[in-house]
This record gives sequence, structure tokens and C-alpha cells, in this order.
Amino acid sequence: MIKFTIITLFQEALEPYLETSMMWKATEKGLAEFDFVNLREFGLGPHKSVDDTPYGGGDGMLLRCEPVFNAIESVKAKDPDVKVILPTPVGEIWNQEMAREFAGVSEPVFSEAGLEFSSTSCAGQPAEPSLRDEPVGDVRDIRVENSNQNFMRPKKQVSATPVNKHYIILCPHYEGYDERILSIVDYKISLGKYVLTGGELPALIIIDSVVRLIPGVLGGEKSAEIESFSDGDNLEYPQYTKPYDFRGMTVPDILLSGNHGEIAKWRAEHSGKA
Ligand code: ADE
Repeated sequence: MIKFTIITLFQEALEPYLETSMMWKATEKGLAEFDFVNLREFGLGPHKSVDDTPYGGGDGMLLRCEPVFNAIESVKAKDPDVKVILPTPVGEIWNQEMAREFAGVSEPVFSEAGLEFSSTSCAGQPAEPSLRDEPVGDVRDIRVENSNQNFMRPKKQVSATPVNKHYIILCPHYEGYDERILSIVDYKISLGKYVLTGGELPALIIIDSVVRLIPGVLGGEKSAEIESFSDGDNLEYPQYTKPYDFRGMTVPDILLSGNHGEIAKWRAEHSGKA
């Protein structure tokens, strides 16, 4: 069972997707669970405010520490082992290998050299999140070292047997977040070098890509194994279904030959590289 607790101001934006298709099936089968924490409930003052203006000036509002820490700590009070994911454009770029690790179906891919949270980094909070010019695939940044405690690094998992995992996904909104929030975050994850208005879409993408890998979620157990990206950077081979001839575009005859060896060879030759 993999549980995701999503801390958000916009639960209604997430629910429809998580209650549909494979995500719904995963919960029906007891393989995944989705829970929500309304960040507003931890807001400050009569207006339940969760954000404020940046020190040093600048446009926009930043997510404040108190509501975020209180929301996360309310979950940690029930499950101290829960890991905290922060979708952010300055995180490590999400990929299939990371999804496999989060699903507990592969070796960990995160390096031992985690990013040390430094109090000096609090000073320069940009008004808007800026994209760092870091190479894709560099895993140093994803695991945020917690300054206050020594957290355990993930144990090696190589099996495909179901595991129990619990993740919080904190969905920031508005223009950014107080840098000190990183001290309670385990993983900073970016969906790409562009800026979205909030963490809800990244949360759905992270959840979908992890949950579908849980053994038992996809109908054909082989599908997750053979498809694109599951073998390193190999892209899936071209596939065809009926009709044989669609508007003059025909299916490669080798696929109708019944020669499994030749078909496998053709597929290998036609698997692209990312
Ligand atoms: N929040 C805003 N933009 C984002 C991105 N590209 N990836 C993850 N979280 C984000």
C-alpha cells in the first residue's frame, strides 16, 4: 500500500483525477490511498492566511512557514516516518527511475550526496521561483538534507513485492515559498524547466507515475515492464491494432508473420532512444 497525503488549498482540483480510471482502481484494490489536508485549516488569523509578502521586497506572496509546518506536523504526529515531497521548478527533474524507486520496485537512484539545507540560503528568497541551470539527471538536489535531524536514507529495495510507503506532497501556490520550508522537506521534485501556478498538477503526475507501477495496479502485469522508459532510456517500439489498412497506412507485414523471433528483432530495432 502506498499512501499519498496531499497538502493543498485546492483539493477539488485533484479529486476528479484521483477518483477516475487506474487511480480509482488502485484505491479500490487497496493498493493506494489518497488523503487530503486542507492547508487553509492551518492558516493564520481570522482570514486563515497562508502567505505573506517577501522580506526585501518584490512582487507576489510567499507561502508562510507556520501553516506548512503545522500541516506537515499534524500528519507526522500520526506517522513519523512519512516522507515529504515538494514539487518545485528548482527540484530534481522527475523521471521513470525515480518513479520506480518511490513505488518500491527498483534500486534507489538518489545519490548519497544530499543537498545540505543551509540557513544562509534563507536570505536570498527570490520573488519568483527561478530555474537553476543544472544538468538533467543530476540527482544531488532531490533529497533535501534536514538541518534539524538525521533522517534515514532509503534502504535498498530490489524486490517487486508490495511495500508500505507514505508520502506527503506539499502543493505550494502563489509565487513561491519561504525557503525555511525546505528544512522539513525530503524530496524537491521538478516536472520540467517551466513554471506552473502550483503544485497540484505536479502532484498528480508524480502520483500517477508511481501508482501505476505498484504491482497489481495495471491489468497486464507485463505492461509497466515493457513500455517506454522502463528499460533505461529505451522508448517503446511502434505498435498497431486493427484495421490493417487505415487510409492507406498499413501495418508492417512482419507483425502479421507469426514469427516471434523476427517480431522481437523488429521491435528491438524500432525502439527509439530518449
Ligand atoms: N511548481 C511550479 N512549477 C513547477 C514545476 N515545473 N515542477 C514542479 N513543481 C512546480
